[in-house]
Amino acid sequence: MKISQYAKHLLLAPNLEDKLMPPSRRWDEETDFTPIRIESPGRSSNLLFSDKKVKIPRLEHLNLISNRGLSLHHFANHELMAIELFAWALLAFPSAPKSVRNGFLKTIEEEQTHLKLYLDRMREFGVNFGDLPLNYIFWKQLGQFGTLESFAAVMSVSFEGANLDYAQVYAQVFSYFGDNVTSEIMLTIFEDEIKHVKRGLRAFEHSVPENKNHWEHYLSLIQFPFTPRRAKGYLYLPETRALAGMNPEFIRSLGSYEDEYTGRVNLESVKKFGLGETILRKNRLDSHLPKV
Ligand SMILES: [Fe+2]
Ligand SMILES: [Fe+2]
Repeated sequence: MKISQYAKHLLLAPNLEDKLMPPSRRWDEETDFTPIRIESPGRSSNLLFSDKKVKIPRLEHLNLISNRGLSLHHFANHELMAIELFAWALLAFPSAPKSVRNGFLKTIEEEQTHLKLYLDRMREFGVNFGDLPLNYIFWKQLGQFGTLESFAAVMSVSFEGANLDYAQVYAQVFSYFGDNVTSEIMLTIFEDEIKHVKRGLRAFEHSVPENKNHWEHYLSLIQFPFTPRRAKGYLYLPETRALAGMNPEFIRSLGSYEDEYTGRVNLESVKKFGLGETILRKNRLDSHLPKV
C-alpha cells in the first residue's frame, strides 16, 4: 500500500473501524506527487457533521458519571477529526519533507490510540460515539490550510496546543473527583500531544523568515475569524508549551493575547480544583494526587 492510498482510506471510508486502521510499517513507493485536497470526509450516517450546539458539562459537574461520558464524547470527536485531517495533509502536501510526512503518520497512529481510549472509557460511562451531535470545528479551517506551514500553525500550534491546557485541566479535575482511570487517560494523551505540538513546531519554525519573530509569523499564517484565542484553553498553562519546546517569547505573546472572544476563566473552579498549580505528568501522577 502507498501512503496516499492509506490516507484516502482514512478519509473516505465511512466507518469508525476504517478510521482506526493503523498505519503500515512499510510503504510502496509513491509515483504521483499531485496535491489532492479532499473537501470533506466519508462518514457513515451516525457520524455526520452537525451544526447543533452541544454544551460541554461544567467542570464542577464532573462528579456525575454521565457528564464524564459527555465530555469524553466531545474529546473523541476531536481525535476523529485529527486522524482525518492529518490524513488530509498527507494528500495535500505530497512533497513535504519525508520527516514531516513520517511525523504525520506517527501522529495519526497516536490519535487513533487516543480515540480508542476515549471510546472505551465513554462506553463504561454509558455513552457511545455518535450519541451526540458531532461538530466539525477542525474541518471548518480547511480554507486556512493553503500551505504546510499554515496547516501546522492551525492544527498543531493552535488546536493541539490548546489541547495541552485542556488535557491538564481535565486530568486534574478527574483526579479531584477520584477518577484516576480517566485522569490517567488524559495524561497519556497529554504526553502524546506534547510530541504533536513539537512536530508541528518543526514545520512551522522552519519557515520563519529572517526579519520576523515566531509570533508575527504565526499571526501571518492564521486567518480571521480564527484568532490565537484558539491556541489556548480557558486556562492557559504556559509550562505545557515550554515542554513542547515553544519559543519563550511566543509563549509570552500567546499568554497576553486577548480579543473580544476571550472567555472568562471561572476563577471559582480554578480555586476549587487547584488548577494549574502543578503540571501533572504520567508516571508521576501518584505523587501529585491531592488528598481527598
Ligand atoms: Fe490526540
Ligand atoms: Fe494530536
